[in-house]
Amino acid sequence: MASIRPDDFTFLQQMLKTRSGLVVTPDKAYLLESRLTPIARSFGHTDLSALVTQLRGGRDERLAKAVVDAMTTNESSFFRDGRPFEQFRAHVLPSLVKARSGQRALRVWSAACSSGQEAYSIAMCLLENKAAWNGFQINILGTDLSTEILDRARDGKFSQFEVQRGLPIQMLVKYFEQAGDRWQVRRDIRSMVQWREFNLLDSLTALGSFDIVFCRNVLIYFDQSTKRRVLEAIARQMPEDGYLFLGGAETVLGITDRFQPVDGLRGIYQLAMGKGARPAAGPRSGRTAAPAAAAPSSAASVGGRPLAQAGAPGGRPLGGTGPAGSTSAGGRFGKAATTGTGAQPAASGLSRPSGTGALSRYANLKTKR
Ligand SMILES: C[S@@+](CC[C@H](N)C(=O)[O-])C[C@H]1O[C@@H](n2cnc3c(N)ncnc32)[C@H](O)[C@@H]1O
Repeated sequence: MASIRPDDFTFLQQMLKTRSGLVVTPDKAYLLESRLTPIARSFGHTDLSALVTQLRGGRDERLAKAVVDAMTTNESSFFRDGRPFEQFRAHVLPSLVKARSGQRALRVWSAACSSGQEAYSIAMCLLENKAAWNGFQINILGTDLSTEILDRARDGKFSQFEVQRGLPIQMLVKYFEQAGDRWQVRRDIRSMVQWREFNLLDSLTALGSFDIVFCRNVLIYFDQSTKRRVLEAIARQMPEDGYLFLGGAETVLGITDRFQPVDGLRGIYQLAMGKGARPAAGPRSGRTAAPAAAAPSSAASVGGRPLAQAGAPGGRPLGGTGPAGSTSAGGRFGKAATTGTGAQPAASGLSRPSGTGALSRYANLKTKR
């Protein structure tokens, strides 16, 4: 263990586990030191011991929150891992659009959304495939434990480095505008996502029900029982034909039997039959991957309805009208729109894409915030 005192380490370890689920093993004690020493200084302490003494007093919620925030890993990128968004476009979206032909509404949750790339990727993917969900209200909610990171997500400003990770250049041109030396997600795209500070260890009931949950690259920081607790809480907020997306290093297998993998899709799960799943409101989708999407031919109500709140208790409506790209900017994330089966011209001031050539991908370098 590094030079942090053993009892201080144990206190911080316990506090982080209780407050956020984060497990810090003794071999990661150096992380406590490197990330918390600046926090200690900013709260007027000379060392970590003094910080822990103040935390033990238990009266400074601001400090406790700063400590948890500092220990979270906010690593994220646009269209992270690629495949989940391809599967979203090609299978999950068409399957649920078919199943919800009655109520014509879907709710998507980016749980542990970090600085927002995941939720914005979902929004862009939807816009690139607008013809596939014409007339639907789709609500996207992004939540995270960290106030600071959520502020960044809401702001939608990204560095050159961040937009070079996973974001096709055509989408950068189409959905972002330059803000000084940064790139900001256009206002109408930002208005498609609602943001809310939320701890996955808290009761999920107030969030309402979600048809699609992206809970990616956060369970890896939890121990088995916390993973189970969070996954089973998510299961209770999903209809039986909902879809759960996990990160590449995450699984439900050996953790809970409430979910089962969807045949043919990687990293995507649905509620296991006979495990207390609530019935879906529409016709039930299959347990296997739906065939790749063909965009619906009718465009009667394209662009006529805002992306709006679809059933979250106490939620407010979203203000933005999803612009319909007439040409896909996103290569493999936008195939449905390129089929030319009803996509409408941009409806809210978005510029047309400047080109539809091959994806321009840049080096996928790692950052550590
Ligand atoms: C590595 S990022 C993942 C971001 C995104 N989902 C992705 O896959 O790119 C993990 C995020 O989980 C958040 N987090 C950690 N513990 C959490 C908790 N108990 N409740 C909600 N968010 C949490 C962190 O603040 C961090 O932003």
